[in-house]
Amino acid sequence: MNQDKVKAVQQTTVTLLKKIKEEDLTTKDVEDLRAVLRFHEHRYYIQSDPLISDFEYDSLYKGLEALEAEAPDLIVPDSPTQRVAKGLTKDFPNVPHLVPMLSLDNSYDSDDLVDFDRKARELTRLSEIEYCVEPKFDGASISLVYEGDHLERGATRGDGVHGDDITPNIKQIRTIPLSARFSEYGLQTVEIRGEVLINKNNFKKFNEGLAEAGLAPLANPRNAAAGTLRIKDPVEVRRRNLETFVYHVSYYVLDNGRQMTDDSKDIDLTNSPSSVNSHLSSHSGTLEMLWDLGFRSPSKEMKVLKGIQAVIDYCNEFEIKRDDLPYEIDGMVIKVNDFELQDKMGMTTHHPRWAMAFKFKARQATSKLLRIEYQVGRTGNIGPVAKIEPVHIGGVMVGSVSLFNEDVIREKDVRIGDTVLVERAGDVIPYIVKPLVELRDGTEQPIVFPKCCPSCGDEIVRLPDEAAWRCVNISCPAQVLERLMHFASKDAMDIRGLGAANIEKFYKLGLLTSIPQVYQIDFDAIGKMEGFGEKSITNLQTAISNSKKQPLHRLIYALGIRFVGETMAKVLAHAVNHLSELKDFDEEKLKTLEDVGPKVASSIVLFFNNDDNLKMLEELEALGLQLRNEKKDGPAGGTDGSLHGQTFLFTGTLLKLKRSEAEEMVEKNGGKIVSGVSSKLNYLVVGEEAGSKLEKAKKIANIRILSEDQFLQMIG
Ligand code: IVH
Repeated sequence: MNQDKVKAVQQTTVTLLKKIKEEDLTTKDVEDLRAVLRFHEHRYYIQSDPLISDFEYDSLYKGLEALEAEAPDLIVPDSPTQRVAKGLTKDFPNVPHLVPMLSLDNSYDSDDLVDFDRKARELTRLSEIEYCVEPKFDGASISLVYEGDHLERGATRGDGVHGDDITPNIKQIRTIPLSARFSEYGLQTVEIRGEVLINKNNFKKFNEGLAEAGLAPLANPRNAAAGTLRIKDPVEVRRRNLETFVYHVSYYVLDNGRQMTDDSKDIDLTNSPSSVNSHLSSHSGTLEMLWDLGFRSPSKEMKVLKGIQAVIDYCNEFEIKRDDLPYEIDGMVIKVNDFELQDKMGMTTHHPRWAMAFKFKARQATSKLLRIEYQVGRTGNIGPVAKIEPVHIGGVMVGSVSLFNEDVIREKDVRIGDTVLVERAGDVIPYIVKPLVELRDGTEQPIVFPKCCPSCGDEIVRLPDEAAWRCVNISCPAQVLERLMHFASKDAMDIRGLGAANIEKFYKLGLLTSIPQVYQIDFDAIGKMEGFGEKSITNLQTAISNSKKQPLHRLIYALGIRFVGETMAKVLAHAVNHLSELKDFDEEKLKTLEDVGPKVASSIVLFFNNDDNLKMLEELEALGLQLRNEKKDGPAGGTDGSLHGQTFLFTGTLLKLKRSEAEEMVEKNGGKIVSGVSSKLNYLVVGEEAGSKLEKAKKIANIRILSEDQFLQMIG
């Protein structure tokens, strides 16, 4: 879209937002609202470059929803509001794909690729071939059918010939447009293929939620994406923020009735407009067309290269970048670019001869399971951890692997002494795929789950609907320690110098046994301990005293209320002027807040109904902690903040500001703090001794790197 058009849409956006504020919307605005919402969805989800704040987007969306509720006749199937669907009751119907979804042939090293190239040159009788090389996305494959520019159907791969019609769930994926201008390319019916992914960050958050609930985290983002697609609750599907890359057009019908299918690509395009001709005669052309139509295709990640050596180099280059990507890829796909040549080469019943997957090195290894240790979590959950003979997996030494809960041990039937297959996918924690049963010699011993807490010795219990065994002794030393560690941790109260080792030492000496005691530590006693000089004590005192100024949302998170993560803590903080108000919120009132479901609501009520907890909060306030929400009347971020829509990340040691102060400055000006370097990041602010984040950011073109001074200047 050119700059003038973008300006025009922004103008309409401003007008509509004004109308919404003044409650002046009329049904005449419906089409404008849809158009601007589609535009901003594309900027956000496809281009990762939003032009308005989340708050502004929500206002526009709610405005459209209200108009459509007033006049249901105005609703059209591709309205942005029509993604949301109610719970599904029936099974997903099985439907035939328009073209069988074939697989890919695999290669594992450069020799395999040289071989592939030799065969391709033989079949095409050419001395050099042009290839299109793109990432091999590691998710769940889907097919999408568009008819007359509208999304008609989305299906799983199934057995390749038939898949399950999961259209209501597909509509929840905001990277898939509900309508696309295929007709501009002379196309009537189109079937495209792609991969549904859950990005690494969302996967981590999702697993944290499962762990909090005492459930086994999902093994990897691939399983999470595939599992989510089959949930019969589209609202839950939407909440999980799936993403999609589309990478293949398997079938289309042109205006003149001619058909292209995977095994008959030689279409006569001579009378088509030249733009259509150039897009529909090569694979890279279709990726560009899909991008132009609003899909997220790998048109930016792909490279068109001549000769196999250039292909090999690009594959190796990408393998190095693998960990820096926000989503999982497990290799590259090399495709002969020209459709006429693809047609010449043809396909087997299993895979096309014109494509080859290049698989990256496996992140699996085998090792021996030596013993099980049981860890007690902050909420008393007993987590079995397998100690294995240390092995290298993808450059990391792995010696401990979580087994999550007793059910996982039973389902996998792992035994002590087993040889186990361990996988580590990207940033994801390693997990045991399976025991290698064929290698058993009879000496393996079944794992016997303990009956008592390994820390306090109390009997452990398993509550209905929970997979975890729990120690319910609130004073269990392991739990107290975990709670204190969480309280002082970087994302919570950020008390440097009060890490796990010191907390344990102080606890053992009875100097630190509860959260309020953090602010009453006997520093004279600590001064007498070995390893604590004057300087380290002053530093610790300063860090503890500074933490009193932490904003309310950090304190809420630090309290370690079950199911209340960082985002939820912000929602709660934003809802009150003072923390004590939360004790008057019942479950119903809590559920009106963003993303608060019944589980979270009941956990919050439980916390604030406990007199000991209320006493602790009073004590903390008396000790000088911040229980008031200071930001409530300040700029909420968004409409008038100069940084709205911009994302920031700080790395290294800042000299003039505390990290939390700097982050707060960003948020006060409407900007957002993100947790990792990805293409969604706008500014990386670099302090002293910045490390890998800076290196990563340098490789991503759209990230601006700022010094602390430049950041301060920007903030003014
Ligand atoms: S092309 C007719 N391109 O990998 C060939 N597949 O292991 C169509 N996949 O079944 C497939 N990224 O689900 C293609 N860039 C990409 C891909 C890709 C991931 C999946 C796809 C395929 C599987 C084979």
